[in-house]
Amino acid sequence: MLKDVFVTEEEIAAQFAIAAQIKATIGSGKTAFISTFGCQQNEADSERLMGLCALMGYGKATELESADLIIFNTCAIREHAELKVLSKAGALRKLKEQNRGLITAVCGCMAEQSHRRDKFLNSYPYIDFIFGTDRLHLLPQMVANVLAGKKQQVYVSGLPHDKFGVIAEGLPVVRESGYKAWVSIMYGCNNFCTYCVVPHVRGRERSRRSADVLAEIEALVKAGYKDITLLGQNVNSYKGEYSFPELLARAADFDGEYWLRFMTSHPKDASRELVDVMAANPRIAPHFHLPMQSGDNRILRLMNRRYTREQYMEKAAYIKEKVEGIALSSDIICGYPTETEEEFDRTVDAVDKVGFDMLFTFVYSPRPGTPAAEMEQVDHKVKTDRFARLSALENKRAEELNARFLGKKLRVLSDGGVGGIFKGRTGHNKIISFTLPDGAEDSVAEAGKFVTVEVTNTAAYTLDGVMVKD
Ligand code: SAH
Ligand code: SF4
Ligand code: F3S
Repeated sequence: MLKDVFVTEEEIAAQFAIAAQIKATIGSGKTAFISTFGCQQNEADSERLMGLCALMGYGKATELESADLIIFNTCAIREHAELKVLSKAGALRKLKEQNRGLITAVCGCMAEQSHRRDKFLNSYPYIDFIFGTDRLHLLPQMVANVLAGKKQQVYVSGLPHDKFGVIAEGLPVVRESGYKAWVSIMYGCNNFCTYCVVPHVRGRERSRRSADVLAEIEALVKAGYKDITLLGQNVNSYKGEYSFPELLARAADFDGEYWLRFMTSHPKDASRELVDVMAANPRIAPHFHLPMQSGDNRILRLMNRRYTREQYMEKAAYIKEKVEGIALSSDIICGYPTETEEEFDRTVDAVDKVGFDMLFTFVYSPRPGTPAAEMEQVDHKVKTDRFARLSALENKRAEELNARFLGKKLRVLSDGGVGGIFKGRTGHNKIISFTLPDGAEDSVAEAGKFVTVEVTNTAAYTLDGVMVKD
């Protein structure tokens, strides 16, 4: 582990000092709005950005239109994600005209791509600053610069590729939920799957210290958090003082009822040891997200995934065998360059055979600068047809698989209810709707409480049930 990946305490303290000055300058009543696109990593980052906003004296705005500071935390995973940001960012022009004091910024994965940065700088001159995925901790500096009259600042790492990425510990955090929490344990990705932009915009893998991660989880459990997800693009490559399975076992060992989840596992690194830790500890939720991407070996090789269809299926079988009733979910890309009909059929067959509780199906989207974007592309109509075919199969498989829960009593973390209908999630990450037993007060199942629910009906993506005594 390179020592210099950690931002120094002095640097962080300097940012906090700037934040305090901003707070004294802007006065009371100012608010910030962070618009988050993309994955959980971005959601976790936005919660830290909001923590810094609070330090600078900005409250949380309920809507974009009324905010004094607006940050777009962007995603570049597929073209559609980028187009969404580009169209929404256009609305900032009008808001800026109406409120000259408004401060606007763009960060996240799009900000790390030079062609997108140029686009923001040239076509969106009302954006005050742009910053990269590992420059979050500099937010106070950037806001102070705007207040001092600087326009169009750009803060990206600019380091050589192999050193891209730092870790900033100790940032304040304003969490969206009082009972569900994200904990980033590592950042970046070294895998360079040939279709994927993430290694290019999130830098090299770097892990937080195990003690810092465990202290954060312990504090969350003490504060009453019930559903804690450990995050990393590639969590199984975590390299702190502990390996990932060891970290997970320790994270699941604090007093209290809570669930631990983790995302995302790469099949080549998802070890038997990890599965055994899950099987041994009921606090680790029975859900495993294991992206397969394709069920054909030639395509997997082209994707640089470094496992075969057979190896994937063997891992999936081991997980299902060891953790009874576990929910397995996956990601599939339809229409990777040069993918033939027969090759896609093998993916459909693998999906059918493994049996996924949930499948995230994507139409391949060329990402500039990635090897796959230079290969021979599959026709758009063919890609969307394959997508539709796989979705139809998955709907059927998910419905069949969910039937295993009928009549079962499941632990459910309630998300609260209105009009007597409550919603929640099971450990398998299934959405469940439930009612209370006759005469029960709503408070027994208020948001953030664990309850036991007997399943009375199942469909492809939802369960229904009635709460019962534990
Ligand atoms: N680190 C995680 C998540 C990566 S992004 C992992 O390795 O699984 C989430 C999913 O988006 C990927 O699993 C992949 O299925 C999909 N994806 C990534 N790049 C894509 C692209 N260019 N086109 C379509 N889907 C893509
Ligand atoms: Fe992208 Fe592959 Fe890294 Fe996942 S493992 S983030 S798909 S490069
Ligand atoms: Fe998107 Fe970046 Fe996440 S590209 S999926 S927000 S890592």
